[in-house]
Amino acid sequence: MTIDRVRLGSTGIKVSELSLGTWRFGRRLVDGEERYDAEGIVETNEERAYALLDAYADAGGNFIDTADKYGDGRAEQWIGNWLEDRNRADYVLATKICRPRREGDPNAQGLNRRHLRRQIDICLDRLGTDYVDLLYCHRWDDETSAEEFMRTLNGLVESGKVNYLGISSGKPDAWKIVKANEIARREGYEPFTVTQPRYSLVDRAIDANYLPMCRDYGLGAVTWSPLAWGFLTGKYSRGDTGHEDSTAAADERFAERYLTDEGFDALDVLQTVGEEVEATPAQVALAWQLHHPDITAPIVGASTVEQLRENLGATDVSLSEDQFERLSAVDSV
Ligand SMILES: NC(=O)c1ccc[n+]([C@@H]2O[C@H](COP(=O)([O-])OP(=O)(O)OC[C@H]3O[C@@H](n4cnc5c(N)ncnc54)[C@H](OP(=O)(O)O)[C@@H]3O)[C@@H](O)[C@H]2O)c1
Repeated sequence: MTIDRVRLGSTGIKVSELSLGTWRFGRRLVDGEERYDAEGIVETNEERAYALLDAYADAGGNFIDTADKYGDGRAEQWIGNWLEDRNRADYVLATKICRPRREGDPNAQGLNRRHLRRQIDICLDRLGTDYVDLLYCHRWDDETSAEEFMRTLNGLVESGKVNYLGISSGKPDAWKIVKANEIARREGYEPFTVTQPRYSLVDRAIDANYLPMCRDYGLGAVTWSPLAWGFLTGKYSRGDTGHEDSTAAADERFAERYLTDEGFDALDVLQTVGEEVEATPAQVALAWQLHHPDITAPIVGASTVEQLRENLGATDVSLSEDQFERLSAVDSV
């Protein structure tokens, strides 16, 4: 298996074509809800997190995606611990700031100057490094003016704490990114050069405007949940309502979002192409994004090393133009 390097948007750096996701590191679920004030099920515990990081790095991966919020800080902390035995410079670290950090504290969230400046130092401390390669705004913040956060983010780049800026989107609001980058261009600030939207064969909301915007402005598109929380691995069947081994599917949005007729129709196409190229559905779902001209790097999630190895095997899958088109043509859910 060879994980190639690709250019990260219009930046000058090269990243693995598959990024490693760490959302589920230390993520604690209590009755299906993410909480840290009570005992519950930890999706990926510390030992498993190190095993996943080792497997990814040993396979040649260099692009690690995390956020201040993941596992209530544990994901960044564990990556930092893991890096102590590695060469920091070999990895491209991306983290995110914005999502609420403390229940009930309106200032422990958002993109206001106070929170960004304070939080970047917390992130760097946990990661055990003095810079992150890529800082994403985890979401757009309607409560802070874009002038304020673009100026503050520019200051973080100038201080050397951050190399490049990105923005992650819940909704595919392409115009907001264009607006922020217009401010950056006008004021001479560092612009966003990378985006992080949700995208999979069955999550296609960004096809209409967001991806064309990325293409036109030369923004990288690093996509999250490329396997639709495991649905595109083919481990669910029509009539299923969940899966007892899966914490991803325990999320109440899973069945409603993916266990639909349209979802299973898409899976049928994935399985047919998988048989043609002798690859698993998960590998074909990722290979489809690797062949997509507008996608920079999907972020793979995995709860075991076996899953991760299977997913990284997508880098060996070749799709013909016809197979790519048939996959692209499936209806979105
Ligand atoms: N910017 C954002 O707002 C945002 C949001 C979400 C995620 N992300 C990033 O994107 C990353 C990936 O997201 P995701 O975890 O939702 O990705 P995903 O690939 O859609 O789902 C991953 C889950 O699918 C199941 N799975 C994966 N590979 C499998 C395989 N080969 N066989 C069987 N099951 C498999 C596992 O869950 P089970 O074993 O429990 O079934 C795994 O935890 C995150 O870690 C994070 O870094 C960013």
